[in-house]
Order: sequence, then C-alpha cells, then structure tokens
Amino acid sequence: MKRRSLLGAAAVLPLGAGAAARPGPAPWIPTWVAMPQLTEPANLPPLPLVQVTLRQTVHTSTAGSGLRVRFSNAFGGTALPIAAVSVARPLGGQAGVAAIEPGSSRPVTFAGRPFVTVPVGAQAVSDPVPFDVPARSNLTVTVYLAAGQDSPAITSHPGSRTTSYLLPGDHHDDPDLPGATAVDHWYLLSGVEVRAAGTATVILGDSLTDGRGSTTNANNRWPDQLAARFPRTPAILNQAAGGNRVLQDGLGPSVLARLDRDVLALGRTGRVILFEGVNDIGTAPATAADQQAVGDELLAAYQQIVVRCQARELPVAGATITPFGGNTGYDDPGGLREATRQRVNQQIRSGRLFDAVLDFDAAVRDPGDPRRLWPAYDTGDHLHLTPDGYRAIAAAVPLRLLR
Ligand SMILES: *[C@@H]1O[C@H](CO)[C@@H](O)[C@H](O)[C@H]1NC(C)=O
Repeated sequence: MKRRSLLGAAAVLPLGAGAAARPGPAPWIPTWVAMPQLTEPANLPPLPLVQVTLRQTVHTSTAGSGLRVRFSNAFGGTALPIAAVSVARPLGGQAGVAAIEPGSSRPVTFAGRPFVTVPVGAQAVSDPVPFDVPARSNLTVTVYLAAGQDSPAITSHPGSRTTSYLLPGDHHDDPDLPGATAVDHWYLLSGVEVRAAGTATVILGDSLTDGRGSTTNANNRWPDQLAARFPRTPAILNQAAGGNRVLQDGLGPSVLARLDRDVLALGRTGRVILFEGVNDIGTAPATAADQQAVGDELLAAYQQIVVRCQARELPVAGATITPFGGNTGYDDPGGLREATRQRVNQQIRSGRLFDAVLDFDAAVRDPGDPRRLWPAYDTGDHLHLTPDGYRAIAAAVPLRLLR
C-alpha cells in the first residue's frame, strides 16, 4: 500500500505529567462481524423473535483475551429488547451446533445488567466478558428474547453459511437445545470484539465474499481461507452480502450507503479490501448506453470510496471483478457486460484508482477462455466459486498487504 496508516505514530503519546508508564490491557478490536441487513420476507426467522431462545455460532479471526458482543437494530421496525445473553464454547469447538461445552457458558451484561434494549436504528455493545478467544475458533452466542421483536422488520445477516437454532422459552444457558428449529441465517448479532494488538482488515464484498458456494458450517469463504494463511491470524472482517452492489441498494444497502456503518465506524481498522461491482454490471441492462453508464458510475464510486476512506487514513486495495461468462442472468449474447467488466478491470489494474491492486480475475479465470471461471473453481452457475476457487482468491492476496 502506498499510503501509510498514521496509527503507529498516533499511538506514541507525549509523556505528560502523571502519565502512567504501566501498559494497560490491549485495546478492543473486532474479530468477527456480520453485515447488518433488513431481512427479506423469505429469510425471516422460522419462529417469531418473542419468548424464544436464539443460539448462533460465529467464527473468529484474531485471538484475544476478553470479549464484547455487539447487537444491531439498524433495520429493526421496533426497539429490540434482549432479555439475556450468554457466550460459550460450542460442543467440540464446532460451528453450527446447538450444544455447548458444559461449564463454558458465561453471562453477558450491559452496563452491569443482564438485559439491554437496542433502540430502532441503534446498536448495543456489551460489557467486557472474561473469556479467552482463540484465533479462527467458533464461539456460541445465545440470546433469550422475551418481549423480543414482533415486527417484520428485523436486522439480520441471511448469508451466514452457518446454522443457528431457535427454541421457544428461555434456554440461554442450556447445554443443548433438543427440538430446536435450525435455520442457516444469523439474526441481530453484528460483531464480536476481543482485546488484541494490531489493526483490522475490512473486506467489502458481495456473495463471492459472503461465501455463496462455500460449505455451510465449514467456514471456507475466501476471507476465512486468507486468515488461515497467517501464522498469527490478524483481524479480518467480512462485510459482504449476497446480491450487494456498489451503486444501488438491493440486498442490503449499496456500498456507498453502508460505508460509514460497515467500515468507517468500526474500531481499529487498518485497511480496506474492495471486491465488488459484478452485481452492478450484471443488473444494469445489456445495452451499450446502460453499460457505458454503469461502468463510468462504478469507476467514479470507487474513487468516492477511496476518498472517504482517506478521512480515516485507510488505504484501499481494489480487486478485479471475476468472470461470469455463461451465467444465465449476467452474461448477455452481445458481450456488453463482459466488455464493461474488462473496461473496469483495466482501470483497476492501472494502479491509479486504488492504493493496491488484487487481481482476483487473473487468479480464477480460465486461461483458455478468460470470459469464464476456471472449471474446477466454478460451482456450475458460472459466477460463484467452489471452496477451491475461494482458496485461489485467498492465495492472490499478498500477506504483506495485511501487515
Ligand atoms: C470451527 O468449526 C469448524 C466446522 O465445524 C471446524 O472445522 C473447525 O475445526 C472449528 N474450529 C476450531 C478452532 O475448533
């Protein structure tokens, strides 16, 4: 990255009178996040979020000692009263299981109280919980919703690729939830923070980063596989959602609309990776005029993102858009959308737009037919990648970019 973060310099405080020389505990940094979204009707919880226990597992990146949990009511239609919260180790350390390791459950409080009400549009951060969080581990967060949220407007992250459980009644401390209803979505939970050194990398993306084509409960999205390449895992934060676009809302707000909440408001961020644009090109009509316009708008929006991140001293690495040749929705017979993809990628590769360039297109395309994904990386829809394809994306990120 060309621009350097000033965080290192800012951390050197002047030695004022009475300044304690004793180092305090490491500051808080997010180790896991989920991009908050308004839940579409098809992805609403299978049971109402009233008098129900909701148990979810998340997959951490960096290790830390002590944790805090964040709940988001960014898109809620009513206030969100949460009656009780606990964190625990999932049984066997596994993702997507309903049982927890016996004796591992710890209560989570908010200003010393076991409950919290998250106002409409707001979020709530818990008190610190004494809990050691290993790197790349699975963590169970269980909430009991009493009055709960009896509204069709619920904040969630549908693309969890992880199984959550709902069971009527208060079971937030129970070792298992027999008879619970399983659902592969996350609700209400938007982050877990730990005390750890370093700075976080935030990845802005769409379904390719959210992990469509990855294995449910295996945590093999490309950001997970990138995290696995480090001997000491840094904080890698996946702020992606299926269908997401840079320019226009759709499945989740556009990148331009969500940049403040999903990136600039996060603590201790050191850099941003932007891998988005395929849904802008793919949903713009396949006419010469529309494709000219969406390509131009996309390039202008990338600049906006870089400029807004500069306000936080955040360098942005831009990734090239991966192939969709043969995809039913996006590939047009005249190749107009492919031409836009090539034009946008050429600008990204020029090095003039971003602080660093990640050539994900080159990493996963078929060298014999560069309009298409390499067959072994193609889930079959000619757009989304297999776990091997996501490994190739992860391998295309130089580790030094995150240091
Ligand atoms: C987290 O869960 C996944 C899937 O169940 C498993 O493969 C992985 O080993 C778990 N991680 C740890 C550190 O136990």
